[in-house]
Amino acid sequence: MNNIQSDSFKVFFGSESYKKLIQYIDEHKVSKLFILVDENTLTNCLPVFKDQFSSTISFEVIRIKSGEISKNLDTCVQVWNELLLFGADRNSLLINLGGGMITDLGGFAASTYKRGIKFINIPTSLLAMVDASVGGKTGVDFGNLKNIIGLFSNPEMVLVDVAYLNTLPTREFKCGLAEVIKYGFIANIKLWNEIREDKNLNNNTIINLIHSSIHIKNEIVQTDFYEKNLRKILNFGHTIGHAFESYFLTKENSLNHGEAIAIGMVVELFLSHKLHQFPISLVEELKVFVHQFYGKINVDKNDIDDIISLLSHDKKNKLGKVMFVLLKKPEYPIIDCEVSYELINEGINYYLN
Ligand SMILES: NC(=O)c1ccc[n+]([C@@H]2O[C@H](COP(=O)([O-])OP(=O)(O)OC[C@H]3O[C@@H](n4cnc5c(N)ncnc54)[C@H](O)[C@@H]3O)[C@@H](O)[C@H]2O)c1
Ligand SMILES: [Zn+2]
Repeated sequence: MNNIQSDSFKVFFGSESYKKLIQYIDEHKVSKLFILVDENTLTNCLPVFKDQFSSTISFEVIRIKSGEISKNLDTCVQVWNELLLFGADRNSLLINLGGGMITDLGGFAASTYKRGIKFINIPTSLLAMVDASVGGKTGVDFGNLKNIIGLFSNPEMVLVDVAYLNTLPTREFKCGLAEVIKYGFIANIKLWNEIREDKNLNNNTIINLIHSSIHIKNEIVQTDFYEKNLRKILNFGHTIGHAFESYFLTKENSLNHGEAIAIGMVVELFLSHKLHQFPISLVEELKVFVHQFYGKINVDKNDIDDIISLLSHDKKNKLGKVMFVLLKKPEYPIIDCEVSYELINEGINYYLN
C-alpha cells in the first residue's frame, strides 16, 4: 500500500510502518518515548503494538480513562503531570495509540506541553484511521461544548495498521464506516458502491477504503487547512447529523456519531434532491442501506421540532442562518446552502418513512 504524503508528514500503512517509526526515533534522537492509551487500547492495542518489534523499545505508558467523557482539560492536566513526572523534555515523543478521543487529546496535550513536543498518531478505531488522526485538528471538549479548546497541529507521521480493528466493537466499526460513505458521496462514489455491494467487507476491501478515504481527506485539507471553503465539504451529513447526535445525548438510547451522520446524509441527500436535482434513486438507495445497517430510529413530531431547533447552534451557521453542504450529483458538493424549516422537516420525515 502506497504511503500518502501530507503537508509536513506521511501516512504509512501496514507492518512496514513500524520500521519507519524506529527510523524516526533514531534519526530524531528522541530522548524519551511516551505512549498514550485509554483503558481499552491498553489491553487490546498495546500488545499488538509491542509485538511488532523484535527487540524491545523502551517507553512510558500514560493511561487515561476511555470515552468522550475523558476528552477534557482535567485529563490533559493528568497527561501534562505524567509527562513532567517522567521528565519529558522538548525532544520527547508522544505516540497516541487509540481512537479519535486519544488522537485529539494527545495531539493537543503534546502541542501545548513545553510549547510543543512532537507526536505520532497510531489510530486504532476506523473513525480515527479515516478521519480524526489526519487533518491537523487537535483539542478537547469544554463544558458541554465539543472540541471548543484546541489548535491546528500536525503529527510527525500517522501509522495505519488494520490489525487493531480486530478488537474494535462492531458498533464502533460501523460508526467509522459512515465517514467512509461520506467520502464516497462527496469525492469518489466508488467507495459507496463497494460498501453497498459488499456488506461483509473483507480485509483487503477495508484497507483500500481506508487508503482512499485518507487520500481524499488529505487532498481537501491540504487545499484548505483552516476550513475557509473547500474543507467545509467534509461536513456533508453533519449539519443534521450533529443535531440528532446532540438531541440523543440526553436520551436513554444513545446515538453515536456515525449513526447520527448516517441519518444526516439521508436527510441532506433528500434536501439535495429537492433543491439541486440530486437523483432520488440514489437517495432511496442510501436510505434503505442506512435503515438496515444502522437500524431505523423513531422520533415523533415534538422530537423533530426539538432537533430542528438544535440546528441554530451549528458551527457552520452564518449570520444566524443554518448552512448545509448539499450535492448536485455524486462528487459535486455545494457549500453554504440555505434550507427552509419546512423542507428540513420534510427531509426528516422522508428518513422516517
Ligand atoms: N480531529 C478530527 O479531525 C476529528 C475528526 C473526527 C472525529 N474526531 C473526534 O474523534 C472522537 C471519536 O473517535 P472514536 O470514535 O475513535 O472515539 P474513541 O477514541 O472514544 O473510541 C471509541 C471506543 O473504542 C475503543 N477503541 C478504540 N480502538 C479500539 C480497538 N482497536 N479495540 C478495542 N476498542 C477500541 C475506545 O477505547 C472507545 O471506547 C471524538 O472525540 C471526535 O470529536 C476528531
Ligand atoms: Zn464526522
